[in-house]
Amino acid sequence: MAVTESLATRIGAAEFRHVMGHFATGVTVVTVQVGREFFGTTVSSFCSVSLEPPTILVCLNETSSTGAAVADARSFNVNILDSEQTEMAQRFATKDATKFDTVPFRQGRLGHPILDGALASLECRVTEIVRAATHTVFVAEVVHADAGYGEPLAYFRGRFTGLDDDGLR
Ligand SMILES: Cc1cc2nc3c(=O)[nH]c(=O)nc-3n(C[C@H](O)[C@H](O)[C@H](O)COP(=O)(O)O)c2cc1C
Repeated sequence: MAVTESLATRIGAAEFRHVMGHFATGVTVVTVQVGREFFGTTVSSFCSVSLEPPTILVCLNETSSTGAAVADARSFNVNILDSEQTEMAQRFATKDATKFDTVPFRQGRLGHPILDGALASLECRVTEIVRAATHTVFVAEVVHADAGYGEPLAYFRGRFTGLDDDGLR
């Protein structure tokens, strides 16, 4: 029996989503500029892969226009959101063509947007592209990175939250 077939008979998408919702994550916005056009999407599937060379990955749905732009540009920025940026996370979780219009940002050294107020930012060059089910995994080397002060925005059981001194709010 094929692996995908055996998994599909064991767990449904709704149950998988419910269980994975118990894994608390930070919230990022992946940004990229191609030509004069800006792309950006809210992403929680971001993680560190290795320290030397500094490598991260993000997983983007094959329907994501930001994903297509990343494949084109071969580089992108990851903006790690601050706890004050829930609205930003919601805005970039849409396909609204005007989502960049009122968002203040500066251009990073690779030419992609670094969002004002982000807790940290990483400028990345794609080193590997892996197709996995409905998603594309972009493995990338971090060539510039910066972090400020503040508290991170978190996502847990389908809602945005933050951190208290003793854990998730
Ligand atoms: C908290 C949160 C996390 C998300 N994480 C991801 C993710 O890791 N990968 C992904 O492809 N979409 C993710 N999404 C959904 C995208 O942000 C959404 O589909 C967006 O509209 C894609 O925009 P685009 O087509 O302009 O790139 C997430 C949404 C939310 C609210």
